[in-house]
Amino acid sequence: MIYLKTPDEVRVMRKANLIVRDTLLMVRDRIKAGVSTAEVDRWVREYIESRGAYPSCLGYEGYPASTCISIDDVVVHGIPSPKTYIEEGQIVGVDLCATIDGYHGDSARTFPIGKVSKEKLDLVQAAEDAFFEGIKGIKAGDRIGDISGAIQALVEGRGYSVVRALTGHGIGREMHEDPAVPNYGEKGRGIRLRPGMTIAVEPMINLGRYDVYTERDGWTVRTRDHSPSAHYENTVAVWDDGIEILTI
Ligand code: MF3
Ligand code: CO
Repeated sequence: MIYLKTPDEVRVMRKANLIVRDTLLMVRDRIKAGVSTAEVDRWVREYIESRGAYPSCLGYEGYPASTCISIDDVVVHGIPSPKTYIEEGQIVGVDLCATIDGYHGDSARTFPIGKVSKEKLDLVQAAEDAFFEGIKGIKAGDRIGDISGAIQALVEGRGYSVVRALTGHGIGREMHEDPAVPNYGEKGRGIRLRPGMTIAVEPMINLGRYDVYTERDGWTVRTRDHSPSAHYENTVAVWDDGIEILTI
């Protein structure tokens, strides 16, 4: 079921999404080598709560933290731990959600820590570029496949692969709503975008092959070949005249 939002509802949603944006900016300024991922998670929880919102990953289908922190070959859903220390040279995905006034916001960034190889930096840049390529020129009446196909073309054009097992998603009163927003597919295919659709567009891309597996903790998703992976996500709203990014 796809829930279309009114402009007033999107105004309310913007509040949750701006808190998510500000939380990621706070993390970007503070994250560094030597900090544990549990500490980053604590910053996130405290910051979101200080803004009067709830960190909606916490308790979502039993997820035990406020943040997903995914280092190097972890694609997404890395669980913060007091035993996991961030190190120079890593790329660290930070994915988080906040809810306030009944609506969710969802966004992710991948942060390079200190001096990082060009190989990893280029991968991180490609995830961000893929997001912008995906939404470029998109408006109501276009199709989901127009976004998916554009993302896939950019990513594969640079020699990377697009994760197949996970997708973006609708978002609103629920963190995950229909439709699924794959990062691979064909332009001109899939359902039509309509005004008031709010979706999280989130390329997850690998330096090596696209295959992934989930660890025994039930959450941590890794690349099967242990090549590095990067993630970039924003919540957006679809209108007749284009896409409005709610988390920038
Ligand atoms: N922010 C994630 C997403 O993009 C949600 C992760 S699942 C959770 O869908 F359990 F960690 F919340
Ligand atoms: Co998401």
